Amino acid sequence: MDELQTLKARRRAVILAHNYQPPEIQDVADHLGDSLDLSLRASRTDAGVIVFCGVHFMAETAALLAPDKVVLLPDLRAGCPLADTVTVADVRALRAMHPRAAVVAYINTSAAVKAESDVCVTSANALRVVSALPEEEVIFVPDGNLGRYLASRTTKHLITWDGTCRAHDEVRVDDVRTARREHPEAVIMVHPEVSPEVAAQADLVLGTGGMVRQARERPEREFVVGTEAGIIHRLQKENPGKRFHLLSRSLWCPTMKYTTLAGIVSALRDLAPRVEVPPEVAGLARRALDRMIELTGD
Ligand code: 13P
Repeated sequence: MDELQTLKARRRAVILAHNYQPPEIQDVADHLGDSLDLSLRASRTDAGVIVFCGVHFMAETAALLAPDKVVLLPDLRAGCPLADTVTVADVRALRAMHPRAAVVAYINTSAAVKAESDVCVTSANALRVVSALPEEEVIFVPDGNLGRYLASRTTKHLITWDGTCRAHDEVRVDDVRTARREHPEAVIMVHPEVSPEVAAQADLVLGTGGMVRQARERPEREFVVGTEAGIIHRLQKENPGKRFHLLSRSLWCPTMKYTTLAGIVSALRDLAPRVEVPPEVAGLARRALDRMIELTGD
């Protein structure tokens, strides 16, 4: 731990960690947040090095928004299977089929897919961004559940892709029924990556940042949480007088757990593995992220 802090100071590094990271990683982070917070932090940091504790597309987003920084991902195996469900060729084919539609890429995509898109969104701003678009037709990739959820909440015509996050997609309506029976006083909040059928049974549908805020601000003392298990550590730590239950055992993302303290130490020591985006992709991908930030004023 001392070594980590010494190296961090020597490298002038900042540690950004996603809300799904293991507890010991959350506890050494300078900033813990959702995909949107962390992207904005990356774009505004004056540190020389960003250690990104999360998955690959998040580190890539940091590299796009902070092009003059060294961005480290302690373990390159930390991918996002959802992001891998859509390719550049898929987006080009969709665009050819629907030439009048805007292409909206969820932040859980590669930089190459972002570069093919008109604008990016995260769970925190998807509804605002999609509603603000001038186009009536919207191609949304890759999360089909989030796409269908957005379709139910806007007047836009959504063309969705059938990618899913396995951890969220495996939550069942029965899990919500059981949670209501076992914790009748609890607020049930779910991530929009669950199926729309599950979302319809919940009290709140929120990204991880929204869950953190609601847990803090609402008067209720008990919550059932329908997103990846790692967030429970943060919620419990920040709200010691409240109780948090995980909605389903499926809510576990193995690649989020590749980050270790030893991995952070060696990344800081070796300044590797680095995440870099080739310039021919970076310009266009950055434009899609900047447009998201412009449309929401974040
Ligand atoms: P948030 O943006 O809500 O933190 O979600 C990130 C994510 O990858 C969900 O699977």
